[in-house]
Amino acid sequence: MSDIATATEKQGMDCLVIHGGRPLAGSVEVSGAKNAALPLMAATLLAPGEHVITRVPRLADTATMVRVLEALGAKVRWDATGMHVDTRSTSSVEAPYELVKTMRASIYVLGPLLARFGRARVSLPGGCAWGPRPVDLHIKGMEALGATIEIDEGYIVATAPQGNGAPGGLRGTRFDFPISSVGATGNLLMAAVLARGTSEITNVAIEPEITQLAEMLVAMGAQIEGIGTTHLTVEGVESLSPTSIEVIPDRIEAGTYLAAGAMTLGDVTVTRCRPAHLAATLQALERAGSRVTIDGSTVSLQSGGRPRGADLVTAVFPGFPTDMQAQMMAVATIADGTSTITDTIYHDRFAHAPELARMGADIRVDGNVAVVVGRDRLKGAPVMATDLRASAALVLAGLAAEGETRVSRIYHLDRGYEALAEKLAMLGAQVERRADTE
Ligand code: EPZ
Repeated sequence: MSDIATATEKQGMDCLVIHGGRPLAGSVEVSGAKNAALPLMAATLLAPGEHVITRVPRLADTATMVRVLEALGAKVRWDATGMHVDTRSTSSVEAPYELVKTMRASIYVLGPLLARFGRARVSLPGGCAWGPRPVDLHIKGMEALGATIEIDEGYIVATAPQGNGAPGGLRGTRFDFPISSVGATGNLLMAAVLARGTSEITNVAIEPEITQLAEMLVAMGAQIEGIGTTHLTVEGVESLSPTSIEVIPDRIEAGTYLAAGAMTLGDVTVTRCRPAHLAATLQALERAGSRVTIDGSTVSLQSGGRPRGADLVTAVFPGFPTDMQAQMMAVATIADGTSTITDTIYHDRFAHAPELARMGADIRVDGNVAVVVGRDRLKGAPVMATDLRASAALVLAGLAAEGETRVSRIYHLDRGYEALAEKLAMLGAQVERRADTE
């Protein structure tokens, strides 16, 4: 078991103690993107050999994906040059429940296993803190490529037809996504690249993480047209080769630190990011009154004083990301005015609202719409993290609040923020990680 996995388990029940009320100032470097690293790691299964992925963030979720790859027989090691994934010894096609239940994104191995081996047995992901998260589009995509899918004892059991010359037996297809899905697009794409014939896939997700996945597949020898558009044409090939790739910067992590600057009336700079990937977030921060300047791969935010209330509607890329919704709700809790926040991607992603209310926020939730009436200030309180982005919102609220805030169950944060407490301390925050004894 990799060192980072054990460390994460040991720190599982830590909490973050925050003394708020001071403006953040300074600069932090953005890590590689979790939501890009996970599919890139899964894609290594498509080609036997040693792949090198650099700038993989050290997170609980990337550690989980390492364990999934190791459970499949791959060898993974990390050194100064990056993460080395050797998939020559891949011997199993089963992704076990114990791992998949902790991270839905483990399902990204379904497409590659089916495409390379013609078989896959992947546990259905467990529920998520906020509502059901179906995988029907992942399954429909595989069936469109000719696979037979059964659900057996909580596992997706997928089998491809044999004898058509494709490594795994899949065949090209036409597939139109009824709704845009990041994960299902990634899975179908990774399966289609080794299918026999042409696949026309429409209404695909165009999130930067998917565009990078497509670029990695092309670097491995895949034939894909239309990358970056909602219509992909994939010409199946017989085999792929290992490659090396650097993970793109994390646009959500960058947005989170900038929102922390707005929240604390501070002056924060994030470096080594891709400003174009977070354009909608920057526009939302500007609408809330902050000044944003871009200089190459550096983005700086100067607070324009107390934030202004501003309405927000989440959407697929390049719209405003649902993964920044909670953080911007935190900003709205101390804004001058009212903000209406509508999440069109997840209809019940407001688990952070009652926790923010414990700190004095005024939030009314009705289905997928939340109305936030800004208050002069928040007051520190013990609060509980419920999911990754909800916990980021609680940290931001704690940074702005008077007094002490104690965020418990921060293992949620460890899933997606690399060295969060250290980076916040670099911005002058008074935060401390402690074992949660309460
Ligand atoms: C990815 O999840 C991200 N996770 C999520 O970020 C992000 O919130 C989401 O995309 C939307 O941007 C990773 O990349 C690992 P979807 P994913 O399939 O792929 C419905 C974070 O905080 N749907 O695009 O699971 C689904 O219920 C995480 O880092 C189906 O109905 O999201 C949702 O309403 C949280 N059937 C919508 O589509 C399916 O088979 C979008 O989901 C698949 C999805």
